[in-house]
Amino acid sequence: MRLSGPFSGRSITVVNDLSLDEQVYLYRKTRELKEAIASGADTARFRTDDRDLGFYLLFLEDSTRTKESFRNAAKFHGVRVNNFDAGTSSITTKKESITDTVKMLFGYGARSIFVVRSKLEGVCRWLDLALASYAERLGYPRPSFINGGDGRHEHPTQEFLDEYTFLEKKGWNRDHVHIAVVGDLLHGRTVHSKADGLRIFRNVEVDLVAPPELAMPDYYVERMKESGFAIRVFPSIESYLAQKKVADIWYFTRLQLERMGEQVLEKADHLRNSVTFSRDFLSKVPEGTKFYHPLPRHREHPTIPSFLDTTPFAAWDEQSINGYFTRIVEIGMLSGLLGDDFAGEHRDFSEPPEEYIEEVPVKRGKKPEYKVGIKPVDNGIVIDHIGKGRDIGSIWTQIDQIRRIMRLDCRSSHGVYHTNDPSLYKGLISLPDILAFDESQIKMLGAIAPGCTLNIIKEKQVRSKYRLHMPPRLYNFAQISCKNDNCVSFPAHHQHVLPEFRRADGTTFVCIYCERPHRFEEIWDI
Ligand code: NCD
Repeated sequence: MRLSGPFSGRSITVVNDLSLDEQVYLYRKTRELKEAIASGADTARFRTDDRDLGFYLLFLEDSTRTKESFRNAAKFHGVRVNNFDAGTSSITTKKESITDTVKMLFGYGARSIFVVRSKLEGVCRWLDLALASYAERLGYPRPSFINGGDGRHEHPTQEFLDEYTFLEKKGWNRDHVHIAVVGDLLHGRTVHSKADGLRIFRNVEVDLVAPPELAMPDYYVERMKESGFAIRVFPSIESYLAQKKVADIWYFTRLQLERMGEQVLEKADHLRNSVTFSRDFLSKVPEGTKFYHPLPRHREHPTIPSFLDTTPFAAWDEQSINGYFTRIVEIGMLSGLLGDDFAGEHRDFSEPPEEYIEEVPVKRGKKPEYKVGIKPVDNGIVIDHIGKGRDIGSIWTQIDQIRRIMRLDCRSSHGVYHTNDPSLYKGLISLPDILAFDESQIKMLGAIAPGCTLNIIKEKQVRSKYRLHMPPRLYNFAQISCKNDNCVSFPAHHQHVLPEFRRADGTTFVCIYCERPHRFEEIWDI
């Protein structure tokens, strides 16, 4: 029997792959499941019971809880569980690309769900897109991908079990949450997913407790602020407890030594001390506070030492068990079993319109005056307003980038000039031999020099004038690449992933795979 609920064939590559309503649905269903199990009621309505559904555990990084909870959750569903042996696989021993391996496994079943853990950030988003078109060519249903942790990027299903646990603690009240996140906030993917996962609460206060060397990356802090979270930063637990407003939810993380560079590693003991809970702190933590941790904790150097295990603060073990229940529901949703009773807004998959060319009026009859040192163009193109308002050095860099990237090695001239406002500068390139740009060149120009104008000149007159903006999507250009060396699309990984960027706020492009923001001039390779 083919199940066809609304989540069938969807993927969970990042937290935001489920809308807030969909996340809340996942928590509601998990609560129903837990209650049914606790009361001994029949749980058949949560069970997919589909032997044709292939469930693949593709763990290219070690895992205990994520892997075991998914494996057990899949067994609950009675689906065909495949434990992929990463160590002896061709990915590890024969340099096969992950896409080729996944295509093979996908071919074995009528329908498939993959859980992937890898250090390649954004790998699930890539596989989701690549396998969707492959499945379409073969006439198979689209497979689902679940991100079981990708490098330092995200760990969405850990986030869902964490939020579910917080909701239980709060008696299902979503009005407010105050959380202290403590530990390695630089490398810890579980805390990065919090930037989106905590949005299910209406008022969010986050205290970031980490030494500067392990601080939360700015772009996650910005994301939290954009979502209206109130953020405070502390360098150690000691400094955090020296002030009065202490959170009742503490989320500890391990020092991710395996992801640290030599320099940080040398200081590991010192760094760990600042985020390790000690007995002296006990009296300063308010009653009712709960400590959580995605686990594992280091048995020699735990940040939540074992003397805490028998205190009322210890809540990490129950949290970890919730991973089994939330993952049963996640598989139930993606297999198409659960979801018919979903009410609310689904995730929006619509693409932004491809608008980046704005036609602006031409003042008729006026001859173009192209500044000192530039001979007026009779026929051709003038790119004007390059980098308007930026400092002179940046404008020259932009002119240089335009020339190199667009290969404008033709008869031409350029310069940096005053604008009508004498306190501002702009750049200009004058191209007498080029009569028109094609769409891809215009798009490229909008992405290299957003805000510039394109003047088409015929018989000494400006015939049309366009202002170019940053395109909403940038792809299919050989000259672009993501600069995050952990990204699945980073050229050195040879995963043959086509780089693609989305325009974010201001002049930022975000890699669609690893979501790392780039300044617009940063994405180009030449
Ligand atoms: C975490 C992970 O791998 O991201 N563990 C987990 O999935 N429960 C955290 C960690 O390894 O420190």
